[in-house]
Amino acid sequence: MLIGKPADIAPSEITPVETFRRRREIVKALGLSAIAPLSTAWPALAQAEDAPHQPPIKQFNKTDFGKEEKLTPYQDVTTYNNFYEFGTAKEQPAVNAKKFRTTPWSISIEGEVHKAQTLDMDKLLKLAPLEERIYRMRCVEGWSMVIPWVGIPLSALIKLAQPTSNAKYVEFITAAEPDSMIGVRAPILDWPYLEALRLDEAMHPLTILAVGLYGEYLPKQNGAPVRLVVPWKYGFKGGKSIVRIRFSERMPQTTWMRAAANEYGFYANVNPKVAHPRWSQASERRIGSGLFTRRIPTQMFNGYAEQVGQLYAGMDLAKNF
Ligand code: MTE
Repeated sequence: MLIGKPADIAPSEITPVETFRRRREIVKALGLSAIAPLSTAWPALAQAEDAPHQPPIKQFNKTDFGKEEKLTPYQDVTTYNNFYEFGTAKEQPAVNAKKFRTTPWSISIEGEVHKAQTLDMDKLLKLAPLEERIYRMRCVEGWSMVIPWVGIPLSALIKLAQPTSNAKYVEFITAAEPDSMIGVRAPILDWPYLEALRLDEAMHPLTILAVGLYGEYLPKQNGAPVRLVVPWKYGFKGGKSIVRIRFSERMPQTTWMRAAANEYGFYANVNPKVAHPRWSQASERRIGSGLFTRRIPTQMFNGYAEQVGQLYAGMDLAKNF
């Protein structure tokens, strides 16, 4: 992702996957984690701890969807994260999010709707049966994972909100708390993080609000207690720790569009034929497939073209990137 400021952040923009994984393997093999917190010389190693498991979700439906995929190990999913509110290096969110409070939590539903309201988590969880969805996730930086999310279709919330006929877009605004989010204290991005979908994309059955992964409640670094997951788009569309959902008539300027409009478009559909100015999107590294991962070809719409291709019929996807 792009960071222009402050100057010291740029080199840590991307921790190469291999370096990151090898560092964790070394720390584990040497049994260093116990002494690592004392280390100032190797601060990155000090952070290479396993992420603790979360309470299990008692009831959710399993389906066959995605069951042919090889899952990315839990430890990779929960320690290699982008969540700039907690730092720009991949290992920082798991460490820095510990003090972030996720209970009680509520989401305000506002804008072009007939039923503006505030939803607490109990109410949200009752909107539809929880279901496991095994999705391929592709980050614009060139890596990917396969994650067994647990969540509800976003459409269930939209039906409750009853959008007016003016509503064309849905915005997702996420938490920005300087006291507990170290990244928010710096002008890394224009906080709060805002992402958005066209209303028909938001209504699509593949679009979910996730509250868990691997059958457990979401860890904070993955967007607890509730985050968006849109598997045919680059990962940055999936806003974490959502506090407001706003329906609007005009296409919103998302956080990443404001940061660099030439690099991050509104649609952000995974498209191997349209390169990002700094990264080819033709192939990807699947995290968790071994220490020395080989690149695999990236698929149009991340392999979900059959389900979502129609949403973009007739559109020039090089222009609407
Ligand atoms: N949401 C917020 N609020 N802040 C962020 O920095 N990063 C995005 C997205 N959601 C981000 C966010 C990016 S760039 C990616 S790739 C995914 O979260 C990563 O999700 P994961 O860590 O659960 O794999």
